[in-house]
Amino acid sequence: MKTINPIRMGGVEVLPLVEGGKGVAVSSGATSGAWANAGGVGTFSGVNADSYDENGNVIRQTYQGRTRRERHEELVAYGIRGGIAQAREAYERNGGVGRIHMNVLWEMGGAERIARGVLEGAKGLINGITCGAGMPYRLADIARDFGVHMYPIVSSARAFSALWKRSYSKAQEWLGGVVYEDPWLAGGHNGLSNSEDPNKPEAPYARVLKLRQQMREFGLGDVPIIMAGGVWWLEEWEDWIDNPELGPIAFQFGTRPLLTKESPIPEAWKQRLLTIKPGDVMLQPFSPTGFYSSAVRNDFLQELVERSEREVAYASHAVGEHTAEYGVGPRKRPVWLVPGDLDRVRGWESQGFTEALRTPEDTLIFVTPEKAKEIVKDQVDCMGCLSQCRFSNWSTHTPDFTNGKKADPRSFCIQKSLQEIAHEGNVENNLMFAGHAAYRFGQDPFYSNGFVPTVKQLFERILTGR
Ligand SMILES: Cc1cc2nc3c(=O)[nH]c(=O)nc-3n(C[C@H](O)[C@H](O)[C@H](O)COP(=O)(O)O)c2cc1C
Ligand code: SF4
Repeated sequence: MKTINPIRMGGVEVLPLVEGGKGVAVSSGATSGAWANAGGVGTFSGVNADSYDENGNVIRQTYQGRTRRERHEELVAYGIRGGIAQAREAYERNGGVGRIHMNVLWEMGGAERIARGVLEGAKGLINGITCGAGMPYRLADIARDFGVHMYPIVSSARAFSALWKRSYSKAQEWLGGVVYEDPWLAGGHNGLSNSEDPNKPEAPYARVLKLRQQMREFGLGDVPIIMAGGVWWLEEWEDWIDNPELGPIAFQFGTRPLLTKESPIPEAWKQRLLTIKPGDVMLQPFSPTGFYSSAVRNDFLQELVERSEREVAYASHAVGEHTAEYGVGPRKRPVWLVPGDLDRVRGWESQGFTEALRTPEDTLIFVTPEKAKEIVKDQVDCMGCLSQCRFSNWSTHTPDFTNGKKADPRSFCIQKSLQEIAHEGNVENNLMFAGHAAYRFGQDPFYSNGFVPTVKQLFERILTGR
């Protein structure tokens, strides 16, 4: 195994190992601080980060506002307070030695206000800001205003090229690195473009090389590329290391650092990681952001899959093949289905899926009365955590704060689910983000007999090539 040498990133020398940012409340001040202290780059999540009371207990985020607009304001305030708390802890744990980055999701509600609020309140504690999901053109302004390096997360050379031409080229000195997040391998949200097939993964090397070629054209041959997604043992990536064709490369780990002593996720989540089998992680389209994302196929995801399978198209009057009348809701408002679909609907009803919910695409899905109640409650409780949400139809982009469409019951409230899994640890009934290499926890001898390393132990292990 080649020696892992430091590289220059964000103006300093660091070991080219990065802990990826993980929301909600997963990569914290504790994990990122320890990672940075070991010599790499730690990234705490600025996505609805936890803050603590005077006894050090997590303050659970509850909302008093009557409208979702009011609750959105509470969420922004929680986000800023939490981000500052995590930055402080990261700084203390890291002892000023290593590099601390903050991750924000451009598609989170109030992203720019939260990013600026945290950077303002934690001046001097944060070295860089990483940002993915969507096209964060304004990241360059934020980086310049606060004198921190920016690390855009992209999944193709094309996406980087668009960001560079429109905005980042004007703040070149603040570009610390470019994260290539593999859309078929990485945990969390994935940046698949419309031209890419979720079922046809492409090997990362050629895509990263294309990114490097693009960067060289822009004069960015020395700016590190951070490879994220599916990285487990570095010995499997030896041909990437010190490879002049690729230029400076760092590796980002998202899934592996979930299982450390410092990792704040509940014990049940840690234990579940050790039981993931090949093929258990699913790239799926249910996120309310509209992006694909990778998560463990547990009861939660299975229910969403099945919910979407119990779907039929309807017409508002009898037309073409839509000749079978069907009554929707308590008032039995008539719609017309294809007769064969009406037979399927009767079958679902006989299994207890008696409630028909309308989607924005003139279809109905069928769920149990309990699930229907839960869906409606979650939509009503919305606190505007995203810039736009297909599940609740919330949007920060319009004067009336809606996206103008029907709320989509095929999706779910990601805020509720990620808060629950991070704090209550119900790993079957919540979204459990994981990368596609997560099954390796169960195969890697490092974790045999249930061994859970400290961050430092994990870091040192990774440096050995394993
Ligand atoms: C539980 C979990 C949560 C994540 N949350 C975020 C996030 O909020 N923002 C982000 O940019 N990436 C997020 N990621 C992606 C990671 O930062 C990292 O890029 C990715 O996990 C790397 O792939 P790997 O999982 O194969 O190591 C998340 C990943 C996981 C596993
Ligand atoms: S409904 Fe959508 S925008 Fe509202 S809190 Fe849930 S995920 Fe966020």
